[in-house]
Amino acid sequence: MPGSASSSASERSSIADLSLAPIGQQAIDWAQQHSPVVDGFVRQQLSDGALAGKRVALVVHLEAKTAFLATVLADAGAEVVAAGSNPFSTRDEIAAALVERDIEVHSTRNSGYEAWEKDLLSVADTGPDYIIDDGAELTVRMAQHRPDLFAKLKGVTEQTTTGVARLRSLEAADRLPFAALAANDAQCKHLFDNRYGTGQSTVQAILNLTNMLLPGKQVAIIGYGWVGRGLATYIRAMAGRPIIVEVNPVKALEAYMDGHEVAKTEEALPAADFVITATGGLRAITSRHFPLLKDGAILANAGHHDLEVDVESLDRESTSHRVVREGIEKYRWDDEKDLFVLANGALVNIAGGLGHPIEIMDLSFAVQGLGCHRLATHDYEPGVHVIPEELDHAIAAAKLAANGIELDAMNPDQQDTVDRWLD
Ligand SMILES: NC(=O)c1ccc[n+]([C@@H]2O[C@H](COP(=O)([O-])OP(=O)(O)OC[C@H]3O[C@@H](n4cnc5c(N)ncnc54)[C@H](O)[C@@H]3O)[C@@H](O)[C@H]2O)c1
Repeated sequence: MPGSASSSASERSSIADLSLAPIGQQAIDWAQQHSPVVDGFVRQQLSDGALAGKRVALVVHLEAKTAFLATVLADAGAEVVAAGSNPFSTRDEIAAALVERDIEVHSTRNSGYEAWEKDLLSVADTGPDYIIDDGAELTVRMAQHRPDLFAKLKGVTEQTTTGVARLRSLEAADRLPFAALAANDAQCKHLFDNRYGTGQSTVQAILNLTNMLLPGKQVAIIGYGWVGRGLATYIRAMAGRPIIVEVNPVKALEAYMDGHEVAKTEEALPAADFVITATGGLRAITSRHFPLLKDGAILANAGHHDLEVDVESLDRESTSHRVVREGIEKYRWDDEKDLFVLANGALVNIAGGLGHPIEIMDLSFAVQGLGCHRLATHDYEPGVHVIPEELDHAIAAAKLAANGIELDAMNPDQQDTVDRWLD
């Protein structure tokens, strides 16, 4: 029975291979060494026992950094149940290491969508008090398929832009009966994770998967939010040539002021060697775009949805497709040209790479872990909330301190307050 104290985590879990645990544990130990904020400030805040005995469902890409957060929550007394937030991104050795540490896990790499959803519902059936979610993948499935357990949830913290949008849409429909913290909207999350973390790790993953050179390559970036901006910065720093496609005029103007070429898809796609989607929506590159792409174009997705590059339509319109190298699928489109898709259209930096740098996830998971702790220690009204600015500042200060950096304090003489100029 899920969650029964009498059964072991390995009996309750569904994972690929428990014998991989030692390899996974090494990766978790490495993540710990480079996560001073989660290992220090967060661990210390959680030591008040507020999460002791509380069931916390952790549904984030299941790799070493996530697993380290799981162990810190478990050390604080939480009953953690984990699953991956995408069917392609779970690391089987990490899942095994968590089970070995008596944490229940339902996740296997490349499980396919049906098995993945079944795993998420297994997590739901343990009756979580809190969810630490990514893309609101567990939250929306509980709303759809487990309404009774959904109604009993005490709170959710959400990691991504896409997930926050889903939570706000539940709230707008008056279907959010508990408090949700938009971790993504914390400064210590989106300013660093979406921008620098995704920028570095996406470029790294694309180059590793393809073993190609970036200088001189034309890279169409679809969407210039925090993710698109980070991608453009790293691509240009490595002598690639970004060209930005946007629908929001202010964002497009920002891209222009940042010194990038900005264009419509009709102009950007024909010359693009690589196309990277970062819109947060579905089908940013779809049937009407395939005719515009050149023979040999490589398509990758950095946004949350696996259908941001519409691989379903590409598959339907192609005469054949096959894997040509690990993580690269070639589609013969309309019997006219070859188009290549990386990591099945899933988030390329996570499903096709190592994910964000550890130091970045140290910040994102500090927001998520402390967010969950706040939900357990504060009375929030139902609805979507953000963490207070002081907590953002405390996390940033902890990170700076871990890097040996101290700050000045503001001098009272600097303050241009009303009492100085009205009396
Ligand atoms: N790969 C990762 O590790 C990672 C990390 C953080 C966020 N994300 C995901 O990346 C996505 C983007 O995140 P963000 O924080 O940059 O969001 P954002 O909302 O700041 O930016 C998205 C941008 O895309 C633009 N856009 C939407 N549709 C478009 C279209 N059809 N063509 C051109 N532009 C379009 C929007 O105007 C917006 O400026 C989300 O799904 C988020 O969850 C992924």
